[in-house]
Amino acid sequence: MEYILVNGENKLNGTVDISGAKNAAVAIIPAAIASGSVCVLENVPYIEDVVSLTNALESIGVKCERSNDNHTITIDATNIKSHIIGDKFAKSTRASYYFLGALLARFGKVEMPAPGGCVIGSRPMGYHTRGFEMLGATCTQEHGIIKIEAKDGLKGSKIYLDTPSVGATINIMIAAVFAKGTTLIENAAKEPHVVDTANFLNKLGAKISGAGMDAIRITGVAELHGGEYTIIPDQIEAGTYMIAGAITGGDVTVRNIIPKHMESLTSKLREIGVTVTEGLDSVRVQVMNPLKGCEIKTAVYPGFPTDLQPQMATLLCICTTRSMVTENIFEDRFRYVDELRRLGCGTLNKNVQSLIIDGNYTMTGAKVEASDLRAGAALVLAGLAAKGQTSVFGVEHLDRGYENLVGKLSSLGADIKRVRNGI
Ligand code: EPU
Repeated sequence: MEYILVNGENKLNGTVDISGAKNAAVAIIPAAIASGSVCVLENVPYIEDVVSLTNALESIGVKCERSNDNHTITIDATNIKSHIIGDKFAKSTRASYYFLGALLARFGKVEMPAPGGCVIGSRPMGYHTRGFEMLGATCTQEHGIIKIEAKDGLKGSKIYLDTPSVGATINIMIAAVFAKGTTLIENAAKEPHVVDTANFLNKLGAKISGAGMDAIRITGVAELHGGEYTIIPDQIEAGTYMIAGAITGGDVTVRNIIPKHMESLTSKLREIGVTVTEGLDSVRVQVMNPLKGCEIKTAVYPGFPTDLQPQMATLLCICTTRSMVTENIFEDRFRYVDELRRLGCGTLNKNVQSLIIDGNYTMTGAKVEASDLRAGAALVLAGLAAKGQTSVFGVEHLDRGYENLVGKLSSLGADIKRVRNGI
């Protein structure tokens, strides 16, 4: 049984370098299949989700080579041999859904079991499959296997998304790179990783415009060549360390980031009384005074990200006045609240969509269990603020999305370690 052991109440101080963005890397790695040549990806985070995806690629004949520091991956899809993704690879991460778009683009067909991933809500895939159908493919699901085929090739189309889904936007964009004519995705997601994936595909010769805006236009091309690409910094990892600085009353600079991507968090931290100073590629977080509560509503980018909601709610627990957090993206993203109660946040009151935080809680260490990646991050943050020892179980969730979490927090002065078999 493995867990993270935190001795709380140490102020964090110093500078932490942020890794490449998980949600960009997990889209760009499958998207590299669309190129029949060699792609070199830099600033790739060394996390389990990336390992799962490269293992999946290797299972279908794609060569993946890592640099010694694990941050550069060379993907050679020249001799890819199958359009079928096996059960264990599909289920190892939610992001395996990008194989649907990528293999459909490359082979005109794909077969894969439904993807796995964090349990944070129902996470349907209707927008993805409807998008593929609008491009001329047939989608079926039997015995848990999704089969998609475009017998007559894909043709450009106008696709309106009912809500701006990140996964559907990226998946349709990848599938459409070779579709004849023009594809228009309307009400598209605008997250930085959508833009990053479009930039990557354009670097290989795709013709995608409008990424980061409401409508994305993809003009089909005959082929993609190889190329080198550097993945953007992880906005959610950066936000997690900014909140770590604030929750411990410390002074933390997060470096190698794009401060613009942090604006919704920066603005909320300033509202509760944290001093946030932006540099060119860094943000410094300092706490000089007691913090007060606020209202948070998650929204699609550039709104407050659902992936920072559990971490921010945890910070609001130690603020001096009441807060309210509304989750608008996923219907089951308050599972961590029961664990926060174990740490002493007794009057936390949640319903499906919102959470009332009275604030002023004194957290005391306890054994807690992470139910998903960001819930795990929130519980580690709670452990940093709590009196005494906190043991966070469910570390496999954290490994999926945070590179060297324990090492990075230790370098900032946290008393934290990973315990395996009692050691
Ligand atoms: N939705 C549908 N039908 C669909 C697709 C989505 O109803 O076909 C709904 C979802 O149920 C949800 C909303 O649309 O209510 C938005 O979901 P979206 O498709 O944007 O999310 P996703 O692609 O499944 C990605 C990230 C998540 C992140 C969300 C929102 C990846 C691999 N995952 O998920 O990341 O929370 O976008 O930004 O990129 C995480 O990193 O911890 C994480 C969960």
